[in-house]
Amino acid sequence: MAKDNFYITTPIYYVNANPHIGHAYTQIVVDSLTRYNKMLKNDTFFLTGTDEHGEKIEEASIKAGLGKGKEKEFVDSIVVNFKKAWEALGIEYDYFIRTTDDEHIQVVQELLTKLKDSGNIYQGEYDGWFCTPCETFWTDTQAAGGICPDCKRPVERLKEKNYFLKIGEYKEWLVAYINDNPGFVMPEFRKNEVLGFLREELNDLCISRPKDRMAWGIEIPFDNEYVVYVWFEALINYISGIKASKRKMDKVWPPRFHMIAKDIIRHHAVYWPIMLKMLDIEMPKTIFAHGWWKLGEEKMSKSKGNIVNPLDLIEVYGVDPVRFFLLKAISLGMDGSFSESALITIYNSDLANDLGNLLNRTLTMVEKYFDGISPEVSVSAGDKDQDQRSEELRETISKVLCLVNEKLTGSGLQIKEAIEEIMTMVGKANKYIEFSAPWKFSKQGNTEAIKIILADLLEVLRKAAIGLYPFMPGTCNKMWKQLGLNGTIDQQDLKQELLTSGKDKALRLFPSGTKIAKADPLFPRIK
Ligand code: ME8
Ligand code: MG
Repeated sequence: MAKDNFYITTPIYYVNANPHIGHAYTQIVVDSLTRYNKMLKNDTFFLTGTDEHGEKIEEASIKAGLGKGKEKEFVDSIVVNFKKAWEALGIEYDYFIRTTDDEHIQVVQELLTKLKDSGNIYQGEYDGWFCTPCETFWTDTQAAGGICPDCKRPVERLKEKNYFLKIGEYKEWLVAYINDNPGFVMPEFRKNEVLGFLREELNDLCISRPKDRMAWGIEIPFDNEYVVYVWFEALINYISGIKASKRKMDKVWPPRFHMIAKDIIRHHAVYWPIMLKMLDIEMPKTIFAHGWWKLGEEKMSKSKGNIVNPLDLIEVYGVDPVRFFLLKAISLGMDGSFSESALITIYNSDLANDLGNLLNRTLTMVEKYFDGISPEVSVSAGDKDQDQRSEELRETISKVLCLVNEKLTGSGLQIKEAIEEIMTMVGKANKYIEFSAPWKFSKQGNTEAIKIILADLLEVLRKAAIGLYPFMPGTCNKMWKQLGLNGTIDQQDLKQELLTSGKDKALRLFPSGTKIAKADPLFPRIK
């Protein structure tokens, strides 16, 4: 892999119903990380898409009155809504793969044939349980009491002649691989959960469904009475999506992150690595499983219908505040209970009071004291206390992007914590205004002090716009513009500043002589 490659994926979502904030969350996380890596000038590839075959979709299609043979019409009608939602949420993916695309079907059939030829597939009888909402096979022990261990809904007994993938033989290999590669399954506690699954017996994976039971799928190339089990083909999207996008596998592979939620960790951290191993394909670097958004105590779920529509939220609060809230409300990896009142609290305190106020106060003072032109500063305010306050704030300013960088690179991914670094700086800057009281210096006629204060504040705002850009791109570009800076943030070459921050304490990076715009509130308070 080229050193600056950043290939990142989301799950491909089932199109049994429209997306909710759980899906939006994964998209926003991946979009933010991709934007950050673009700022680092890495070669990014962000793949997303939809999972369109299988029993669950067939059932949804029937329920929608379209019925057997009309599934494609049904999925087409839902896929549009996914694409619309991602556009409204500012999700800039590079490619959208659909499992009904020809390129995908072709790659799945090719890989199946390879696995058959290498002796990894055999025919046998499946006698066990199946959970349709999870599209997952379970053993008697796993589905004790007839209940799916993942979603807790009733499972169905299946007795079918089927094809199997010999994954059982790879258990020891996988355990060793996970142990030898600490960043492979993240967060750490999920890795332990996966190792827990692997302490139980690992049955071979059923990878087909007989057409007379379930025909909505990709035909098995060596037996036309069967279609491929939906999970087997879904995982392959991570490869077929590269091909369909007309990129070269050796330029893009391996993924830096497969971002998923914890519901599908077994498929990604057990089945997928074994499939890749059988095919002699390099392992992804990190499988990162985030937590669940819940309503009350229950997982938000398309099939249960207990959902919050992200588009409704954006309409009221705007897209960037919704992105900001979802990312800041929980540490990546943990569950969160969604509430609109929590959204309003974070909006008012972080965005309206802290960030929005800082921007307005600063721009208003630049207007008032220097006719809207950013001042040129000298070394000292001629006031020891003020010089020290400035020194302290500049210490924070100089380090902030370095701290953000630490949290957004590496396998740990601390998005909430990265945002908090910036908000801490913003909070300090608001206090700095109170303690420095530029209006008092104005009465004393100390213009040097006011220049220093405003230059420091402008640089805080510049750094905040840069640091928050991956999470709130549109709003940060507006801030950038109000600050009078050129172009948009994504057009700047900030790589050096992002990587060497902490070493530029003496520098004042905000350009003097810049004509700032009139303050225009970005986050009106919500009552
Ligand atoms: O599992 N909280 O599709 P899916 C957070 N097609 N994230 C959530 C969520 C919630 N309440 N609900 C869904 C599938 N998600 C398969 C995937 S991949 C090769 C095949 C997000 O429509 C989260 O990313 O059930 C989760 O893993 C994914 O949607 C599951 O989407
Ligand atoms: Mg699901």
